[in-house]
Amino acid sequence: MAAQTLVILGATGDLTQRLLMPALYRLRRENLTADLRILGYAMEPWSRARFQSHIGKALRNFSEDYDARSAAAFVRQLDYISGQLTPEDLARIAGHLSPGTLFYLALPPPLFGTAAQALGAAGFAQAPRNGWRRLVVEKPFGTDLASAEQLRKQMHAHWDEAQVLRIDHFLGKEATQNLMVMRFANRLLEPVWNAQHIAQVQITYAETLGVEHRAAYYDKAGALRDMLQNHLMQLFSLAAMEPLSAWDGEVLRDHKVEVLRAVKPIDARNLAAHAVRGQYRAGRSGRSKLAGYRSEPGIPRASNTETFAALRLEIDNWRWQGVPFYLRSGKRLAGETSEIAVQFRRAAGPLPGLVQAGDSNWLVLRIKPEQRMDLELTAKRPGLKLEGRSVTLSAPYADAGDAGFSAYEQLLIDALAGERAHFLRFDEVEWAWRIVDPVLRAWQHGSPDFYPAGGEGPATQARLLDAGLRWRSIAA
Ligand code: BG6
Repeated sequence: MAAQTLVILGATGDLTQRLLMPALYRLRRENLTADLRILGYAMEPWSRARFQSHIGKALRNFSEDYDARSAAAFVRQLDYISGQLTPEDLARIAGHLSPGTLFYLALPPPLFGTAAQALGAAGFAQAPRNGWRRLVVEKPFGTDLASAEQLRKQMHAHWDEAQVLRIDHFLGKEATQNLMVMRFANRLLEPVWNAQHIAQVQITYAETLGVEHRAAYYDKAGALRDMLQNHLMQLFSLAAMEPLSAWDGEVLRDHKVEVLRAVKPIDARNLAAHAVRGQYRAGRSGRSKLAGYRSEPGIPRASNTETFAALRLEIDNWRWQGVPFYLRSGKRLAGETSEIAVQFRRAAGPLPGLVQAGDSNWLVLRIKPEQRMDLELTAKRPGLKLEGRSVTLSAPYADAGDAGFSAYEQLLIDALAGERAHFLRFDEVEWAWRIVDPVLRAWQHGSPDFYPAGGEGPATQARLLDAGLRWRSIAA
């Protein structure tokens, strides 16, 4: 493989030390990036040695398979240049680039546009003959539809859509990629994957963590922007899209956009039936007391930012007519329960003995706490009576011997290879903002519904459900 270069802008920041460097270190150990040069770029006037020691420490803290010798060897090869986001300063990295160069914006989101423009103005968007130039952008891509559109314009002053790789790390998760394989590689699923057989879909991403050290970012973002507009919307579109006519990144993204475009608009009139927001107040987890959101360090005492958001989405097409899709995510909930849960309609016709057509048919693709698939069925209870009971067929995604890769490892490899399927195209971002924008606007006023930290979220989430449905439990 010809030499490649990865330039990380924001190389002294949190994302670089927590996620990018541990992923790059692992890839190097697996011998998957032997020809990759890594150059850190940031404002701090550090020497190369200081940067290397900073990353060495980060690997010790954040790398799961840390080993002092290989970490030292990895760190020795890192380069560092200090500078601002101006074309003049950036010009100093020109001598470090390879024919294939990937720029990674690990920067605070307000700097994405400036950085993309400055890189372009320095001439770095122009690929040399037989080479390539790509730009990786972290989330969030804008804070609403208008700002996303503005950011797109700024980026495209120099970069083509095909060069821009917008990360949503959920697309690198094993469970997300499995969703595609599972849906389309199993003859048994596709015939029942529609409104005739499916009663509802619940996509939940529940976290026990609070806002942590991210008060400044989180209080401006809130759960709807932080999780639903991007990560959960991706799981939603993958669960609902049509089968692909070709395994091709563009076709895949066309199909995801098709789903988003078919979502019935939420507006001020139907808002209460389609969106619920919550904020955690003080509560408990076992014996420990948990502070309320408004008492967290750095959070304004009267903040109305939502730490929980739930949406009810309906898709106006033949496959999904009348099937509610529920998306919800929150901080400081009762468990790390994250899953895509599909409930099938009740069995029809008479059943033997005491067998009830309960609500026991669920297919659950679990992301957390374990990565596994569960199919909940009704089977006979052993004994003399013809009685039914719920049984679960369960399979982990990975066996003990399988090499698992983290989302960042997976996506970095794709970005270097130019594989765009697992990155967001601008129209996906745009249509996701179109769905949530009216909700964001309505939530500028009023206050969220409070829920105790360590619980199941606000009681008001029940109002989104169709009669006879219930939320799955979040508690572990
Ligand atoms: C991030 C959000 O994008 O995703 C966080 O900003 C959230 O608030 C995180 O905790 C969840 O992803 P993961 O992969 O860490 O469970």
